[in-house]
Amino acid sequence: MSILFDEKARSFTLHTKNTTYQMMVDQHDRLLHLYYGPTLQGGAKYLVTYQDRGFSANPYDAGEDRTYSLDALPQEYPTTGTGDFRSPALTIVDERGVMGCDLKYKSHSITKGKYALCGLPAVYDKDKEAGSRSLLITLSDPAVGVEVDLFYAVLPKTDVITRSAVIRKVGGGRITVEKALSASLDFVTGDFDLITFHGRHGMERNFDRQRVINREIRIGSRRGASSHQYNPLAILAEHDTTETAGGCYGLSFVYSGGFVCSAEKDQFDQIRFQMGLAEYGLSYPLADGEELVAPEVIMSYSAAGLRQLSWNLSETIRDHVIRGPWQHKIRPVLLNSWEAFYMDFDGEKLRHLADEAKDLGMDMLVLDDGWFGHRQDDSSSLGDWFVWEEKLGGPLRSLVDYVHEKGLLFGLWFEPEMVSEDSRLYQEHPDYALTIPGRKPVRGRYQLVLDFSRKEVVDAIYEQVSTVIRENAVDYVKWDYNRSIIDVFSCESPCQGKVLYDYILGLYDFLERLHRDFPELLIEGCSGGGGRFDAGMLYYTPQIWCSDNTDAIDRLKIQYGTSFGYPAMSMGAHVSVSPNEQCGREVSLKTRSLVAMAGTYGYELDPGCMGEEEKEQVRQEIRHQKEVAPLILEGRYYRLSDPFTANVTAWGFVSGDQSQALFCGVVMDVHCNMPTNYVRFAGLTPHVLYRNEGDGRVYPSDALMAVGMPLAFEPGEYKSYEWKLTRVDN
Ligand code: GLA
Repeated sequence: MSILFDEKARSFTLHTKNTTYQMMVDQHDRLLHLYYGPTLQGGAKYLVTYQDRGFSANPYDAGEDRTYSLDALPQEYPTTGTGDFRSPALTIVDERGVMGCDLKYKSHSITKGKYALCGLPAVYDKDKEAGSRSLLITLSDPAVGVEVDLFYAVLPKTDVITRSAVIRKVGGGRITVEKALSASLDFVTGDFDLITFHGRHGMERNFDRQRVINREIRIGSRRGASSHQYNPLAILAEHDTTETAGGCYGLSFVYSGGFVCSAEKDQFDQIRFQMGLAEYGLSYPLADGEELVAPEVIMSYSAAGLRQLSWNLSETIRDHVIRGPWQHKIRPVLLNSWEAFYMDFDGEKLRHLADEAKDLGMDMLVLDDGWFGHRQDDSSSLGDWFVWEEKLGGPLRSLVDYVHEKGLLFGLWFEPEMVSEDSRLYQEHPDYALTIPGRKPVRGRYQLVLDFSRKEVVDAIYEQVSTVIRENAVDYVKWDYNRSIIDVFSCESPCQGKVLYDYILGLYDFLERLHRDFPELLIEGCSGGGGRFDAGMLYYTPQIWCSDNTDAIDRLKIQYGTSFGYPAMSMGAHVSVSPNEQCGREVSLKTRSLVAMAGTYGYELDPGCMGEEEKEQVRQEIRHQKEVAPLILEGRYYRLSDPFTANVTAWGFVSGDQSQALFCGVVMDVHCNMPTNYVRFAGLTPHVLYRNEGDGRVYPSDALMAVGMPLAFEPGEYKSYEWKLTRVDN
């Protein structure tokens, strides 16, 4: 059994294949955290120590016992107002403005299968094939009139445990939730580093590692979206943990709005690691019987370094978060009109683009921004999701039919959550936008954000968007979101502290309707590139445009960071022109293609501007991508070097049975008379031979993994190398 309750010890033990998580109801009915780490036999209660400590107060029910203080004890769901001055998981305020509650164990239940969350994305276990189990522990504070349901689920094979919390008002009256985290992990000792992924528009998810010393490190987003600036993915790694060795804990938030993540070393050198809803903007009122659901966090522990942890997290997302027919299907190679024409197109140009896509062997044409309302630049028409027929030279359906007749799929760009002041929608319904009465709104890319916390607004946009999809037989939607939320005021909400959270529920409601009404539709998430790249969006959109930066060398860093928590096939990656339009760097087509191949793969340029020789190379690259795509979709991903420091950025994919592998490398720095670069492979079967498709030669796997593959020197910048290996089986 993967979840056990020991009645005598009053302890809960959760087992995955290689890990154990343990907690206990103590003598005062509080839920203490005991252990999370490698598989455990027996109880870890002995780890908790008690000492009389100055300025660490004692709850009344401890009586004379001055060694019992919540300021020092490892807790499962710490709250404000109990004497614990570390970062709380829950802060509530009652009608008098009094802060805090003291939660005690009330009941629990263990069930088969994986719990679901109402209105929110969550890990699922279809047909219980992963043997999942769920645990619900209810804590309560009758004096305040609050109950908290702590949900845990175990997917044993994945080494993943999920957590979430439901906060409920009971017994009349009203409270306001000011902070509600989903996971809080206390470690009684340890020397840890915190790994986070920071960035900006055009340069998302840069790897960062810093030591957890005696202070609180906090990252997060107050932008109403998970953000370019910090990804809701964090790793607490033992200080000496490497890619292939050492203990590390990962948290990945299944939520697309603001979040907070912190790691704190306290006065007694204990560590608290947390993730949950951003406190910023949250002031959520609950009347009797009402609930707030703190979204799910995926947790995993690896004793074998960061590589294994990344597999645990990303394979869980691939197999238990992403849904629909595209989940295990190779994604179409697409040609996107954005970097080809931006908004400067007409029907004829688009038909030519479709001709080129077909000629080059692609699978889909995507019409990006600029096809609706009267949108000739980014100052108008968001919210008016009707086709600009004069611009297209006729109905959209005739263009779509043209594309379909060629045997290509057709994709279309939308930005459903936004409105331009210069739009029919805004003229008719100015109250649909999030603006503060009496104040001019803050504009972002000239646009305003629609109030998706209101069902009426979601309904109105859904009606428009779904009509376009249905009437035009759209196969793929690029769902964009191009600014942050600043003016938080919903004209129908009695409490503005609900709006940011309810907005995300509205977004998920919209996406769920699309999922239900268009089950075959492939959706690619996007937010000015990767500003909302999170496990919450991946529940609805099996792939997300990784970044507006299509420069292959910057992409090496972006995709490297992303790989710590997300599968390769979720990363939208395209080949664009050289010199690159965002940073001017020149990179060969071969290298650009190889880098894009580590994601969904597509093109974002006008092939009409290419010579015949270059086109022929594109055809070859596409044929090649189709050969290796199964490996990229289902194989195991290996980071072979760090693009921030290595001379050669290298990565690879190995099939589950290790019979096939693809390794790739890009030289980051070139010098005269250089030492030979070697790329060390990984994940191959030991003591066997592999044949390299490129040169037809056979290589011993042990040497490839212990020493590496030498790179023949080639002059010039950003040369790339690729090895497609097949095991030689006797
Ligand atoms: C965002 C996206 C781009 C493109 C433009 C269109 O920036 O990330 O790929 O779709 O919007 O306006």
